[in-house]
Amino acid sequence: MTPRTIVRAAFAAAVLASVLLTAPAHAQKAGKRVEDLLAKMTLEEKIGQLNLVSGHHAVTGPYTRSDVRSAILKGEAGGLFNVYGAAYTRGLQEMATTQTRLGIPLLLGFDVLHGYRTIFPVPLAQAATFDMAAIEQAERIAATEASAAGVNWIFAPMLDHSRDPRWGRVVESFGESAWLGARIGEARVRGLQGRSLKSPDSVAACAKHFAGNGATEGGREYSGGDISVRAMRDQQLPPFKAAVDAGARCVMAAFNAVDGIPGVANDTLLRDILRREWGFSGVVVSDFGAIEELIVHGVAENPADAGRQALRAGTDIDMESRTFVTQLAALVREGKVLASELDDAVRRILVLKEELGLFDDPFARSSPEREAATVGRADHFQAARAMAEKSMVLLKNDRDTLPFSTKLQRIAVIGPLADGKADTLGPWAANGNPEDATTLLAGVRRVVGDTADVLHATGGTIDRTSPADIAAAVKLAARAEAVILALGERSTMSGESASRSSLDLPGDQLALARAVIALGKPTVVVLFNGRPLTLEDLDREAPAILEAWFPGSEGGLAAARILFGLAEPQGRLPMTFPRSVGQIPIYHDERPTGRPAGQQPKPYTTGYQDVGPTPLYPFGHGLTYTTFFMGPPRLDRPVMAGGETATVSVDVMNTGPRTGTAHVQLYIRHRLARVSRPVKELRGFARITLPPGGVGIVKMPIGEAELAFWQPEGRMAPPEAGRIEVMAGPDSATLKSIILEYRPSGSGRQAQRSGG
Ligand code: BGC
Repeated sequence: MTPRTIVRAAFAAAVLASVLLTAPAHAQKAGKRVEDLLAKMTLEEKIGQLNLVSGHHAVTGPYTRSDVRSAILKGEAGGLFNVYGAAYTRGLQEMATTQTRLGIPLLLGFDVLHGYRTIFPVPLAQAATFDMAAIEQAERIAATEASAAGVNWIFAPMLDHSRDPRWGRVVESFGESAWLGARIGEARVRGLQGRSLKSPDSVAACAKHFAGNGATEGGREYSGGDISVRAMRDQQLPPFKAAVDAGARCVMAAFNAVDGIPGVANDTLLRDILRREWGFSGVVVSDFGAIEELIVHGVAENPADAGRQALRAGTDIDMESRTFVTQLAALVREGKVLASELDDAVRRILVLKEELGLFDDPFARSSPEREAATVGRADHFQAARAMAEKSMVLLKNDRDTLPFSTKLQRIAVIGPLADGKADTLGPWAANGNPEDATTLLAGVRRVVGDTADVLHATGGTIDRTSPADIAAAVKLAARAEAVILALGERSTMSGESASRSSLDLPGDQLALARAVIALGKPTVVVLFNGRPLTLEDLDREAPAILEAWFPGSEGGLAAARILFGLAEPQGRLPMTFPRSVGQIPIYHDERPTGRPAGQQPKPYTTGYQDVGPTPLYPFGHGLTYTTFFMGPPRLDRPVMAGGETATVSVDVMNTGPRTGTAHVQLYIRHRLARVSRPVKELRGFARITLPPGGVGIVKMPIGEAELAFWQPEGRMAPPEAGRIEVMAGPDSATLKSIILEYRPSGSGRQAQRSGG
């Protein structure tokens, strides 16, 4: 080392030391009740509040069950998770409030990702509804049910942005549009937290996994990709920012590292962005065991180092690694963690408990009467069915194979997913009971009643189909007038720890489908799965394909109602379906290249030699039972000034034989900006239901928020003056466009420079 570098190193160490010994600037005092309580707490009691212990019902990580009762009595649990049931949670709250010195009630958390007992379609399917009111309502119902069972904190919404369907957790996500993810994040937080957090039917929402958890490498679970600042700001963070702006009271720090620092120790993410920049005042909980995993990541030397880094970075609650509870007391005594930092974390937890009304009445949510009257109510199941109908996507429908006539006499329902109750519910079905699920077979029987014979064969299992299974299925199908093939993934093939390297239909299901389709009967394939699959062969051969996802408690009935025309297919793909795994990542908002692909393959243009540049089904794709003409987008003003909103109108006509709902999507492209912008980005959508021959107009706003992106100088803002291509149509690949001039105030000079 030269003397100069020694001086520099010493300077850096001095800066570091001053940072290490200084409390973060944003600490705030809470109300009197919390401050009085804090003043009475011992060091151990404070640390106990930071510990979150898994209870009896489920464990998602490699840990043994904790002794919940002794953790509460020893004051070593500020919260529990995976506990539910009114009587049971009431007992736990009683123990905490009457048998501990200070009687502090418990946070009781649970993963309620698509319903508590009434199971809604999986989140990716919910995204396919493009219906924020329905999503908010589903969360309201989930919160109402879970809270009646004593839950006061839900580990949702999951807001990880991913472009890789190999990653099993895309099933929990909103798909590939960060803009749509932001709208969904807001709707979910509103639904979970309700009008007031104090209300016994509200729960605290926890946006997860902060941040960059979906940017996996190769779709491998628990891997972390390299994320540029731009990718972070334009794709990963906006859904979280929207959830925080909507009032989310909790954020879960992710397993993965961003720029080399895992989420729980990442003070750039937790302190600089989340708390300082966004003003978040709620609690940060670690993902399961993530604090201890700092050692495995190779950034912490031992548990003490891991605990110190996590607390100092802004993680308030330790989920299941027991690092805080074993290490923090010594760290505080040795001055490696400031007492004020510990107090800040405890204060935030106590404030959340106060906001939830737990100090006023810790038993308000644990109500056996409300639980009995609320959980799995008939109107909740109806809402689940309505949402399932909205979420299913008609991928293909040659020669109007669908809808089937209700006058059919004999229908074959074939396939390993036809009658799988758990697979109908989906991978993260909280307290859902598979016995409640209406499978596709049951749904078809319900819809056709006594008027038709419904024949059924499993055609083998999801993983295995023998020649005898195929022969039996073909024999059965030959007797029917129409065939429904129920194919796809087992629900456990999607979700956490469920990455796949192939996205083909598992097992020999394609062979089964081919043999049955070859009979030439009117045949529809109904797919149950939690991610985009590679379906080129199936698409070539099957006359009709309905993507049903994992549709929840009433999913089979919803699918049957669509198949027989009692409901119309309304879902649109929230994630691109590739032709092959080799095309991944493939998504609608790709960046331009200097050598774009043309209609015909051409050397030295982007793409592959062995597959075309387009996906099998683009983002936003979804057919209906009628056809629509959509005119080009029109603008209410050719020039949009700063602070203004432009309105985009699209004329729609139902040109088909049935009443139907058109879904118009709005995309933009900055034709000229200081940084290269995506070729299209979703920025709006609207629906209109029209009778045959009916015409109507949909209107969609574009404001400055829709134009904003991460600017080179480091802020989220609309660009300088310029030309914005505004595109509208039924999906991301079928668009008509118009140019909008954007001229923010005082942009005369810039406008000229950017050609505006
Ligand atoms: C998951 C989280 C979940 C937590 C608690 C973790 O393994 O990544 O999404 O909330 O477990 O169950």
